[in-house]
Amino acid sequence: AGERVALKARIRDLLVREKAVLVAHYYVDGDLQDLAEETGGCVADSLEMARFGRDHPAQTLVVAGVRFMGETAKILNPEKRVLMPDLDATCSLDLGCPADEFAAFCDAHPDRTVVVYANTSAAVKARADWMVTSSIGLDIARELHARGEKLIWAPDRHLGSYIQRETGADMLLWQGSCLVHDEFKGIELELLRAEHPDAKVLVHPESPAAVVALADVVGSTTQLIRAARELDAKEFIVATDLGILHKMRAAAPGKIFIDAPTAGNSASCKSCAHCPWMAMNALSNLAETLETGSNEIHVDPQIGQRARVPIDRMLDFAA
Ligand code: 13P
Ligand code: SF4
Repeated sequence: AGERVALKARIRDLLVREKAVLVAHYYVDGDLQDLAEETGGCVADSLEMARFGRDHPAQTLVVAGVRFMGETAKILNPEKRVLMPDLDATCSLDLGCPADEFAAFCDAHPDRTVVVYANTSAAVKARADWMVTSSIGLDIARELHARGEKLIWAPDRHLGSYIQRETGADMLLWQGSCLVHDEFKGIELELLRAEHPDAKVLVHPESPAAVVALADVVGSTTQLIRAARELDAKEFIVATDLGILHKMRAAAPGKIFIDAPTAGNSASCKSCAHCPWMAMNALSNLAETLETGSNEIHVDPQIGQRARVPIDRMLDFAA
């Protein structure tokens, strides 16, 4: 514990020395989330992280999350320095959607508007008409459907099929998935809910349809935390990365949060629903990157310029 306190103090000093601001996701280590908030940075969902990084005057952004979040920050702020605790922190959705294969898929369907999730590489975004995050994907798809546009949707098939069911839009889905949310199981969740009949079920839309079908609220991390605070219930079953519980418990003290069952967890495994790449962010490598300036994110400027178009479209839509 003493070492953690010392590391946190060192990071505070380094943030000042480097005139840097810390932008963290809700799935990273609780200490990092707290530090971000206490030092004038933010802890947020993907959409808010992008917006915060764009609007904050600091010339150095330190992104505690996964690589696509750092890349999005760099694309929106090519003149800023963007650092990450570990550049190998990737995402199964990003890995499952290589840019060349995706471009060929798009080329085969030239009549479709290309919508990609934030959890993709800069090169995939550069091929898209729109970028969306989980908090705004539904609204954007509804709007595009109302305009009569047919869509390519990539890479998350679960998010895509949820949005397809909700909007009735004509969507051709890439078959990617999040390795954390893919593990939540509908039948086990139904059994758990039967044991807790008054609990509200909070589900991230990267989860399979059988899990989404049992949800009281489907939403982004920020939207799920808000639901936990605002809904008049004492117990909640949470189907998303357990990193979120740090903020959920702080936002709704006195309420009880139960992890939704995954294939491997039930009673024994307490960290099944935790992203291995989000877990690569720690106090030690955060201090290291600030100390040395290592782990800077670079995006090819031409790709970045092209990738910025769909991101700006989303931010303008969300404004
Ligand atoms: P949110 O945008 O809901 O924070 O989710 C992003 C994500 O994929 C984290 O895994
Ligand atoms: Fe990607 Fe899933 Fe990890 Fe989010 S939780 S970064 S979607 S692998």
